[in-house]
Amino acid sequence: MLKDMFKIIEFDKFGDEKGSLVVIEGEKMGVPFDIKRVFFIYVDDLGDVRGNHANRHTELVLVCASGSCKVKLLDGRDEEIVSLNDSKKGLYIAPMCWKEMYDFEPNTVLLVIASEHYSENEYIRDMEEYKKEMEMFWD
Ligand code: TYD
Repeated sequence: MLKDMFKIIEFDKFGDEKGSLVVIEGEKMGVPFDIKRVFFIYVDDLGDVRGNHANRHTELVLVCASGSCKVKLLDGRDEEIVSLNDSKKGLYIAPMCWKEMYDFEPNTVLLVIASEHYSENEYIRDMEEYKKEMEMFWD
């Protein structure tokens, strides 16, 4: 079920007169997996939609380090929209959850923390193919 495929994680945040510091650690200390890869996304055109795919094996945590965006999550049947606008909160996304990131505020930097190295083979980028694969789980 879609609600079992994502959750919000809260990170430790330390603040003083100099500013703030948010700590993101792997291996169950916040991020519930061993971190293998980190990348970040920013858009040139605020109307851009990023993602539009599911990963077969990779677990992800998305954090808006700066700015805000929305994330639409789908399982082929249901959909949920999560707003990311707090740098101390991460969105955990399980394998096989379809995601679309959009509605980027100017200067948004979306940090993506991944459990696996990049491999194009584990991406499903076609929604019809994705729905077919998900239907097999439900039967
Ligand atoms: P893509 O997955 O389409 O980005 P988004 O989901 O943000 O729209 O990736 C864009 C390009 O970057 C694509 O050619 C694959 C490449 N890429 C890597 O080489 N390594 C990576 O870790 C990632 C995430 C993407």
